[in-house]
Amino acid sequence: MNHAPAAQQHITVLQQEVVHGLAVVPGGTYVDCTLGAGGHAAAVLAASSPGGRLLGIDADPRAIRAAERRLQEWRGQCVLVNDTFANLQAVCASLGFTRVNGVYFDLGLSSLQLSEPERGFSFQADAPLDMRFGPLQSRTAADAVNDLPQDELARVLWIYGEEPRSYAIARRIVAARPVRSTGVLARIIAGVYRGPRGRIHPATRSFQALRIWVNDELGALGTALRQAVPVTGPGGRICVISFHSLEDRMTKQWFRQESTDCICPPGLPVCVCGHQATLKLITRRHIAPSEEEVERNPRARSAKLRIAERI
Ligand SMILES: C[S@@+](CC[C@H](N)C(=O)[O-])C[C@H]1O[C@@H](n2cnc3c(N)ncnc32)[C@H](O)[C@@H]1O
Repeated sequence: MNHAPAAQQHITVLQQEVVHGLAVVPGGTYVDCTLGAGGHAAAVLAASSPGGRLLGIDADPRAIRAAERRLQEWRGQCVLVNDTFANLQAVCASLGFTRVNGVYFDLGLSSLQLSEPERGFSFQADAPLDMRFGPLQSRTAADAVNDLPQDELARVLWIYGEEPRSYAIARRIVAARPVRSTGVLARIIAGVYRGPRGRIHPATRSFQALRIWVNDELGALGTALRQAVPVTGPGGRICVISFHSLEDRMTKQWFRQESTDCICPPGLPVCVCGHQATLKLITRRHIAPSEEEVERNPRARSAKLRIAERI
């Protein structure tokens, strides 16, 4: 009997807020950097009809196939590419998507990926410790768990997972090496937490941390944010939905820096940096999902949307 959970449908987060934030116009060109199941892409293509064009990028070849099915109706208006958004500028240039009207990111993983047990993202089923978004990634969660020095492993769990027991967990993992499966890892982590369980499983934060490390999610975001500016034409919009405080901080700081003319350290009598603003902030504070959206889709609860406009 197959005990694998059925493939879960991904519910798109802040869908109308992104369409509105991008100020989508008929005939406009857009780049979806995290295509996933194509939920945002479908809404953007609908709003940019007639004549809209969309380039969809995803590191996961399975996401590309799912989006191809979802976006059948707009086959002639979209190009879907299996690549990392860290290559945003090169992908856009090679396909003629220059000076686009909007670029957007919906970071993290999709419910589709979480519901495929063999991917190793979930501890609900026992599976190899993989956690790669796609074959482009060279390292797996097994590499982190079995090869990183104990201190480095603890640092990954603390920084990317904000796991308060990171040192105790890293010590237990190192003592249990080799650790080969999600189920074994989840049990090791649960063993560090005694007493009654909270609302979330004790392994949730560590699994998130390992996924971020495996896919170099913060490194890729930093690179892509820099590339999103030259890809976007004047008046075009950049939208970022993040689910993690480090991603949100990175986006906020980048938007703030790029919307400022001089970025010299404070106290200098004259500007020596020569920096000129390339963006205008559309959101000073992030946009959060409504209570009703969170009730419908609990996964949306930590989502934060920030928007900037190309000058
Ligand atoms: C939250 S899902 C997107 C869901 C989509 N917006 C929708 O509504 O159906 C995030 C997607 O981003 C992809 N992704 C994550 N990091 C990536 C990267 N560096 N480059 C390209 N795709 C990435 C994941 O594979 C996943 O499919």
